[in-house]
Amino acid sequence: MNRPEPAGSTVFAGAGPPTQSPRDMDDLVPPAASVRGLRKVFRRTVALDSVDLDLPTGSILGLLGPNGSGKTTMLRLLLGLSRPTEGSVRLLGEPMPQRSSAALPHVGALVEGPGFHRHLSGRANLTRCADAEPLLCTPEVPGAVREALHRVGLDDSAADRRYGGYSLGMRQRLALAAVLLVPRRLVVLDEPTNGLDPAGTRDVRRIIGELHRAGATVLLSSHLLTEVEETCTHVAILAEGSVMATGGLDALLESEGPALAIDVRDGTDRTAALTVLRSAGILGYLDHGRLVAGLADTTPDEVLRLLVHAGVPVTEAHRRRTGLEELFVRLTEEST
Ligand SMILES: Nc1ncnc2c1ncn2[C@@H]1O[C@H](COP(=O)(O)OP(=O)(O)OP(=O)(O)O)[C@@H](O)[C@H]1O
Ligand SMILES: [Mg+2]
Repeated sequence: MNRPEPAGSTVFAGAGPPTQSPRDMDDLVPPAASVRGLRKVFRRTVALDSVDLDLPTGSILGLLGPNGSGKTTMLRLLLGLSRPTEGSVRLLGEPMPQRSSAALPHVGALVEGPGFHRHLSGRANLTRCADAEPLLCTPEVPGAVREALHRVGLDDSAADRRYGGYSLGMRQRLALAAVLLVPRRLVVLDEPTNGLDPAGTRDVRRIIGELHRAGATVLLSSHLLTEVEETCTHVAILAEGSVMATGGLDALLESEGPALAIDVRDGTDRTAALTVLRSAGILGYLDHGRLVAGLADTTPDEVLRLLVHAGVPVTEAHRRRTGLEELFVRLTEEST
């Protein structure tokens, strides 16, 4: 896997001692965003509670969590679109929402419908966004619009159609184009691949890589664990409004210990096999039809003995590193 390194690591790699870990470097550079004691209550719903989180500068942080766990609420609070019930938010060092006007020009966000007009073309809509960008002067607008449309793959004929006739994927692409109008220090994306086909998903992944290489810190929420595992340098896992784990992806997964991947004969009832593991208190899940058992509290021998005893036809088994899905299942199921 070719995961990008946080920009912070590059800066310090030559200067610091060779043993310096990314965690240490996160501590040296001020975070691109941070929240402390964050609580958000909607009427009777506690959407976030006692959340402390840092977004390391130069990272691509994947914010993961089940539906309703508070991801969008967190992103909206960071951007000053909503006020916390308690706690504090800093964005690029600025207290939010009080200093929004200092921080937001450097932040590109795809969090909610950006209010595009249905009767205007994609290009006209994007031009309105560009006109409102404090970092763009008027003569630069047409070029910035052209370039952004090109990067998100909206060709001239698509760009000149009415926004009202756009598919969900085209709407996502146009919203992403608005993020790309000027270079950003921070990009915040709420489920950026939502509604996109595989080509669109690949484009978003490419654009995230380009933004990161250009020096931007990226914060994205997603339900797609594989995508986060392949794209992100850091993760934060939310469950019911609390942060269950956060840190560098590699460090988090390594701290979880190994897992056992088990192949079973074709036609086997894999859900029943999973139930055998779970009823013995072993963390198990299915990964592309393969059974995976966490080895935190058990041994490979014990896992295989249980399965064989229950009549599950095991054909092969091997140890592997814990995957993000396993960590996610453990942390989010523990909270329920
Ligand atoms: N404007 C609102 N009014 C009332 N309740 C809200 C509001 N916004 C969010 N909530 C509640 O806060 C909780 C967290 O919602 P949020 O949208 O942040 O979750 P999420 O993790 O983004 O979910 P999803 O994965 O479905 O997008 C939910 O219980 C939701 O119903
Ligand atoms: Mg959401």
